[in-house]
Formats: sequence, C-alpha cells, structure tokens
Amino acid sequence: MLYDVLKTLHLLGVVVLIGNVTVTSFWKVFADRSGDPRIIAHAQYLVTVTDWFFTLGGIVLIVGGGFGAAHVGGMPPFAAGWLAGSEALFLVSGMIWLFMLVPIQVRQARQARAFAEGGPIPDAYWRNSRRWLVWGIVATVPLISALYLMVAKP
Ligand code: HEM
Repeated sequence: MLYDVLKTLHLLGVVVLIGNVTVTSFWKVFADRSGDPRIIAHAQYLVTVTDWFFTLGGIVLIVGGGFGAAHVGGMPPFAAGWLAGSEALFLVSGMIWLFMLVPIQVRQARQARAFAEGGPIPDAYWRNSRRWLVWGIVATVPLISALYLMVAKP
C-alpha cells in the first residue's frame, strides 16, 4: 500500500515535470513570436511561476517518491543498473536546469521587467531566448532517457 502511494507520487512528479518542460517551451516560443513586449514579459513571468510550482514540485515528488518507493520496496538505490542509470540521467538533467537554464531565465526575467510596460526588446533577450530553447531541449534528452530506463529496466 505505502509502496503504491510512493510510486504514484513518483509518477505524478514525472508527469508534472515532463509536462511542464515540454509545454512551457511551446507557449513561450509562441509568446515570443507575437513580438508584443507585454505578452512576452507576462509569458516570461509565467515561466518563473510555473518553474517554481511544477519543475521544483516535480523534482521533489520524483526524488521523494522514487527513493521512498525504492526503500519500502527493498531495492538498494544504487544496485540495479536501470535505477542507478535513471538517477544519474536525472542528475545530469537537473544540473543543466540549475546551471544553464535557471541563470538564463533569471537574466530574461530581469530584461522582461524592463520592457513589461512596452518599449524595445533588447537583442540580448532574443539571444537568451534561443539559448534557453536549445538548453531546454538538451536537458529533456536525459529526462526522456531516464523515463525509458525506468520502464524497460534493461
Ligand atoms: C531520483 C531518481 C529516481 C529514483 C530513485 C526512482 C525510483 C523508482 C522506483 C523505485 C520505481 C518503482 C519500480 C518498480 O515498481 O518496479 C520507479 C518507477 C518508475 N520511474 Fe523512477 N526513479 C527516479 C527517477 C525517475 C525519472 C527521472 C523518471 C522519468 C523521467 C522516472 C520514471 C519512472 C517510471 C515511468 C516508473 C514506472 C516504471 C514501471 O512501473 O515499470 N523515474 N522509479
């Protein structure tokens, strides 16, 4: 029973995290393409808000539910290749998020606050937008690989 609850929380975290990172990239790109500084600034604000709720919330549920289920289910967390491999991939993705994506988002949020009431959008903002998208896609690859490893358990 406890195992199933923890695994459900773990999977809820996976759904929320992967759902957020994929869907956010879509609406953010479409907001950017509007060219309207107010829409872009509001979308940038929402990137911050959804990151706090869903990226961070997803991470907490994945880690808490995952290690909790492993403990209750009697699985040593670093013994099985599929488990250790998923943890490593998850860590790689988390490092990209923390050290590449978050700093870009912080810079963009600062820039967006300056043009939130209208006004020119600096070139640096667009450069950051492109880098954010590329690094976002890069960070998703280990996440999807972890998903496969967890399901296939090779
Ligand atoms: C902190 C790292 C992680 C730990 C400790 C962990 C742990 C676990 C454990 C113990 C299970 C239950 C396995 C079973 O019932 O046979 C599980 C299942 C699962 N995990 Fe993870 N996990 C981690 C990361 C991830 C990540 C990053 C993803 C996806 C992006 C993921 C996706 C899944 C899926 C889809 C299942 C269900 C697999 C099945 O029932 O066949 N996990 N995980």
